[in-house]
Amino acid sequence: MIEITDKVYYVGVNDRNKALFEGLWPLPNGVSYNSYLIDDDKVCLIDAVEVDFFVQFIENVHEVLGDRKIDYLVINHMEPDHSGGLALLRKYYPDIQVIGNKKTFDMMSGFYGIRENTLEIKNGDTLDLGHHTLRFFLTPMVHWPETMMTLCEGQKSILFSGDGFGSFGALNGGLIDSEINTDWCWDEMMRYYSNIVGKYGIPVQNALKKLAGIHIDYICSTHGPVWHQHVEKVVEMYDRMSKYETSSGLVICYGTMYGNTERMAEHIARAASLAGVKDIVIYNVSKTHHSYIIRDVFKFRGLIVGAPTYNTGLYHEMDVLLSEIANHDVKNHLIGWFGSYAWASKAVNAIGEWNEKRLHFEQVGEPVEMKQALTPEVKAECERLGREMALKLLQA
Ligand SMILES: Cc1cc2nc3c(=O)[nH]c(=O)nc-3n(C[C@H](O)[C@H](O)[C@H](O)COP(=O)(O)O)c2cc1C
Ligand SMILES: [Fe+2]
Ligand SMILES: [Fe+2]
Repeated sequence: MIEITDKVYYVGVNDRNKALFEGLWPLPNGVSYNSYLIDDDKVCLIDAVEVDFFVQFIENVHEVLGDRKIDYLVINHMEPDHSGGLALLRKYYPDIQVIGNKKTFDMMSGFYGIRENTLEIKNGDTLDLGHHTLRFFLTPMVHWPETMMTLCEGQKSILFSGDGFGSFGALNGGLIDSEINTDWCWDEMMRYYSNIVGKYGIPVQNALKKLAGIHIDYICSTHGPVWHQHVEKVVEMYDRMSKYETSSGLVICYGTMYGNTERMAEHIARAASLAGVKDIVIYNVSKTHHSYIIRDVFKFRGLIVGAPTYNTGLYHEMDVLLSEIANHDVKNHLIGWFGSYAWASKAVNAIGEWNEKRLHFEQVGEPVEMKQALTPEVKAECERLGREMALKLLQA
């Protein structure tokens, strides 16, 4: 049994089995589905878990409550990684009253056919549990339309934030940030944010404005550690990321089959480094999953991409990456590009079209095109592109 503070318990579960979250995002270190139980005059569960983990979840709940019943279930987010266990929970606790907003209940009816025993709240409404009071904040599109956050005010102030401030990574014994080494968290939290929430920067900004000025002792999200020592840091990270603020680093991504295009990337990187860029990351798009690349695109302002021509088109994995970047509505970036071919060039133009039609980043330098293999002229053009990107990054 894990008590976070003042009769607020953790009853969540770890998933170390799933390879890809949402069928898309690699989980090398698993993920947790966090659920919380407030044991007050009125007993209130906050969010549930994915249905596959229901047995463990209900055991956790019983460990705290024994035979006592649950009065309320607050659903901050209807995505099935949290609501999947809902229909089963109703079988164990038929009288449980579900708390959500209008959009929550539209979804609950559609997903699970549940329509009865609900309590619809509006933004700013409160609910007294005895020694704790809940206050509800509607935070639409962080990252679904029905999302909301629930502030619990008792001896301490606890924000149940749904997916907001969440992180990939299962919980390995420790739960609260002050009791674990958090070194691994920051990159995985950024990868979670950039890939899953990152498209919705404006709604995140709106949510942060609603929460501004409220004292928060704990942030309990639905994935990853509970934030206590680092509340200020994670709120500041969310503020920066949702404003698409970046630092003067450079992400270089390439596709390659036989190493020629890769050599171009190496020369670009070396020139950018010599010109003073300290943060440079290089990724082979066929090797590194795009979720890691997108995380770094959210960190760094500079992006240089390059790929070979393949069957009269752009090398497929680069197409996938550019489409993912475009889908995430990334803003405020500088871009340069390069490519190669052996008989009829396509890659360089195709990347240019991606930028013109979908990315709309500020172009830096001239695109570099290589036929078959590196020549001294192509090498010099790569170096010029690296230098020009460095200049732009460092002057910004
Ligand atoms: C399966 C395959 C299809 C290709 N299709 C084209 C093509 O349509 N047009 C072209 O000019 N080059 C094509 N190429 C040649 C490559 O684009 C060119 O050799 C490129 O420089 C390879 O870069 P790399 O050494 O980084 O893999 C193709 C190569 C392969 C292996
Ligand atoms: Fe979600
Ligand atoms: Fe989630």
